[in-house]
Amino acid sequence: MHVPDMPNAKSHAPIGVFDSGLGGLTVAHAIRARLPHEDLVYLGDVARVPYGTRSPQTVMNYARACARKLCEHEIKLLVVACNTVSAVALDMLSVELDLPVLGVIGPGARAGAQASTHGRLGVIATAGTVLSGAYPRAVASVSTRVEVFMEPAPLLVPLVEEGWITGEVPRLAVRRYLEPLVAQRIDALVLGCTHYPLLHELITSELTTLRGQVLPVVDSAEATAHDLERLLRERKLARDAGMDRDRGGRKGSLRILVTDMPGKFSEVAARFLGESVDGLDVTQIDL
Ligand code: DGL
Repeated sequence: MHVPDMPNAKSHAPIGVFDSGLGGLTVAHAIRARLPHEDLVYLGDVARVPYGTRSPQTVMNYARACARKLCEHEIKLLVVACNTVSAVALDMLSVELDLPVLGVIGPGARAGAQASTHGRLGVIATAGTVLSGAYPRAVASVSTRVEVFMEPAPLLVPLVEEGWITGEVPRLAVRRYLEPLVAQRIDALVLGCTHYPLLHELITSELTTLRGQVLPVVDSAEATAHDLERLLRERKLARDAGMDRDRGGRKGSLRILVTDMPGKFSEVAARFLGESVDGLDVTQIDL
């Protein structure tokens, strides 16, 4: 994570969050749960999802366009909610943008390394994230005792998009992706993709069955919200919770920008966000 100086930052500005699509709303959800008084502007590049199967150069180009659009909203900090973008474009964004940039891989890797008691950490992610080697690098930067075993789990993204998060089909897919990791005797698992937290329960139960014991399953969304809180405090960018503390303080806004508005937008977005999107400010934009 690169944190440049920010002399002109304003704590009352919104936090920008972007993802290849709507899956990053799982990260927005975790941020809103931890920092309910912060304003968020979320950009989902729904027109070009998935990024996980594309080349690093294409992902970098897309990521640059998303980040620039969010900067037009005078954000104080950028959260890259997409694991694939965090894997291949975080350094580029940190260099090019004049504001702090936080990805999901650093926080996820650190939480995973902490959860791994015997140093055998499994990670499931998109093909792009696996090929980038970003997770093993991030884990190596926080611990020399943890070995990382990765497995691409591409089918889980469309399954979650379709709402197939319980039942035989996702269970068999999850089992197939976990088997090689279980054969490596992993002792903890990181969900290295925005979509996988919706399968948290199913993944935990399959992992328990295959491994014969309950293992920690780390959600990088929660780890990212935790690191974001610390970064905001360190950079003196945290927004004051407001005067009406008796009523839980100020309630931050959530603005959603999307590059396409699919028919099932509200249903899919609500699934990721964990709340209805009716009444939220949703705008379709071009990049
Ligand atoms: N947001 C992507 C990620 O976390 C998953 C969806 C995609 O492939 O674009 O890696």
